[in-house]
Formats: sequence, C-alpha cells, structure tokens
Amino acid sequence: EGGVKPPAQHWSFSGPFGTFDRAQLQRGFKVVKEVCANCHAMNLGNAVRMRNLAQPGGPEFTPGQVMALAATYQVTDGPNDQGEMFQRPGRPADPFPAPFPNEQAARAANGGAFPPDLSVLAKARTYERGFPTFIFDIFTQYQEQGPDYITAVLTGYAKPPEGFPPLLPGQNYNNYMPGHLIAMPQPLQDGQIEYPKGADGKPQVPETVHQYAEDVSAFLVWMAEPHLEARKRLGFQVMIFLAIFAGLLYYTKKKVWARMP
Ligand code: HEM
Repeated sequence: EGGVKPPAQHWSFSGPFGTFDRAQLQRGFKVVKEVCANCHAMNLGNAVRMRNLAQPGGPEFTPGQVMALAATYQVTDGPNDQGEMFQRPGRPADPFPAPFPNEQAARAANGGAFPPDLSVLAKARTYERGFPTFIFDIFTQYQEQGPDYITAVLTGYAKPPEGFPPLLPGQNYNNYMPGHLIAMPQPLQDGQIEYPKGADGKPQVPETVHQYAEDVSAFLVWMAEPHLEARKRLGFQVMIFLAIFAGLLYYTKKKVWARMP
C-alpha cells in the first residue's frame, strides 16, 4: 500500500547539527491552532502541554505569550464541590484541548473518518516506511520523511487522473496519500492564515498553501520530538567522548602490553 515518494523539502533541523527555526515553529503553531485543531486532537499522553511552547529548543514563545495563548482556549475541568464538570479558560499547565470528546464523536463529525491525533504523526509516518529503508535512513534523512510526507499531503490535492474510479461523497483525491483517497478535505488555502508582518508591512514569508504546509510540518516535528535539539547536542558530545576514550584505550593497551615481544 505504498504511496508516491514525497518530494524532499529543505528543513532547518536536517542533519546532525540542525536546529528548529523559532519563527517557523511559531507560524506552524498558528496554522495548527486556527486550522488543524478544529478536527485533530494533539494531546497523546498529555506529554506536550501549552507551557512547553515556551521551553528552550521549541517555538520559544515568552511565558507571557503562553499565558495569553492558553487563555484563548476553553478547557473542561472538574468535578467541583457539587460533582459537576465545568469550563474555564486554559492555563499553561493544560494539554491542548481536543476538538471532540472521543473517537466516535470525531468520526460522526467527519463522515465516518477519524482525524488522527497529530502529536507524533511526524514520526509515525517516518517509521511506516519499512525496516530496511528505516535502517538506511538513520544515516541519511530519516527525520525528514515525516514532514516531507505531511507537506506533500497538504499540498497534494488534485483532480483524479483519467480513468480513476469516480470519487464517492467524502472522498478526496490526493497525489501522496497511500491509495490516493483521503477523507480529509483540502484544509489549507492561499491567504487563509495571517502571518506576522515585517517592517515594510508585508508578511515576512508568503501566505501560501506551500508555506503553511511547511510551517505546520516543522511544528509537528517539534511536537513529536520536543527535545530534538538537546538530543543532537548530547549525541555529538558522546561522539567526542568516544573518540577521546578510544585514544586513551589504545595507548593504555600499548603500555600494558609493552613487554610482549
Ligand atoms: C488525516 C494533517 C486539518 C480531517 C490527516 C493526515 C494528516 C493530516 C497528515 C493523515 C494522512 C495519513 O493518514 O497519512 C492535517 C493538518 C491539518 C489538518 C496538518 C491542518 C493544516 C484537518 C481539518 C480536518 C481534518 C481542518 C477536518 C475538516 C482529517 C480527517 C483525516 C485526516 C477526517 C482522516 C483521513 C482518512 O482517514 O482518509 N490530517 N490535517 N484535517 N484529517 Fe487532517
């Protein structure tokens, strides 16, 4: 059930030293909040909460911005003294509220299809490419396949080619979805989301479907791996340590075995 290979995009977090582009993650969050979160949940294990938007290595909103942002959500809390659930404005310690109370409600609102939780989607699609490719990709570009795929799906809506069976209600044709049929209607349109303006009053990056798609894909990579930057840093330190340690072992071995003929 393999799909068409998504075109490779350029990602700031590529390679062993790549880091996230803060401004891109902030824009990507805006896309998620205004568009994707209307259908998709993003709270697996409550692992990433709103406060994480301010931590180092991510979008790095200021704590004040996160407070204000959290308050724009209504979250369900309780039970209170009367045993009732109630709504209150969000706080930084809350996970992102889901658009539907459960899977059945989500399916009912989406013509029977379930919008998958977005928390680790950028990784799920990476691993699904199969074992041998996965091993090979560790050394090449495995962290980029997830966002390449998400960008491809979001920009890949098209008219079905000649001879493709007629679409049923609720089916959309997509160049990159495996099997080409996707229940999600094209979620992004040019100009749909307002981006921060530069000094000249123009948006700093184009307000296009492709740009939105790249930004939201980058955000979903951070969402799936909020400690990516720290992991790469530690990995590099470990490599330096191993290089020095290998040298020490070599000279120790020479010394210990020095009297052997
Ligand atoms: C599926 C991303 C907005 C409803 C998906 C998939 C991705 C995705 C990557 C999975 C494709 C796969 O299975 O490989 C996004 C992003 C959005 C967004 C990044 C915001 C830009 C929406 C919106 C809706 C929606 C607004 C509802 C109107 C669905 C549904 C599915 C889905 C129903 C399941 C499709 C199927 O099973 O055929 N989405 N989505 N999504 N999405 Fe979205």
